Amino acid sequence: LYLSMCLLYLFVCVPSTKRLINAAMVKNDFLKKLEPQHLRDMVDCMYPRKYTQGQLVIQEGEPGNYLYVLAEGLLEVIQNGKLLGEMRPGTAFGELAILYNCKRTATVKAAVSCALIWALDRQTFQSIMMRTTKARHEEY
Ligand code: CMP
Repeated sequence: LYLSMCLLYLFVCVPSTKRLINAAMVKNDFLKKLEPQHLRDMVDCMYPRKYTQGQLVIQEGEPGNYLYVLAEGLLEVIQNGKLLGEMRPGTAFGELAILYNCKRTATVKAAVSCALIWALDRQTFQSIMMRTTKARHEEY
């Protein structure tokens, strides 16, 4: 039974989570401009984190070192103390500080008791971009 649960997880849960993360990135206006292979490599390097209600994922005005995708739960986006909107599963966020080296433009907060969020750190993001670019240079 244990083995079949593991196989179920490997062949059913992992691909569907990866598809959700990839779809979220492709839907994002900024991330969709990146190479599809870059995005696939990023999905493979993301790891899950859990947040409890009220916990801040991102704080406005701070430097940002992670790109995120919401897999389960609900998040609130707040700017200057005002609620701008909500984020639902399948949304990529935190891309602005990573792509443009700017400060976080808004606060993002967990609005439910358990939000599941996949994260990618800046170093991994940069090394994925470099590795692929380098490989492409060597082709020419
Ligand atoms: P970043 O600035 O890195 O960190 C805060 C994130 O919130 C930002 O990236 C966007 O992904 C997201 N964000 C900023 N403004 C809005 C908005 N008006 N509506 C929804 N999401 C936003």
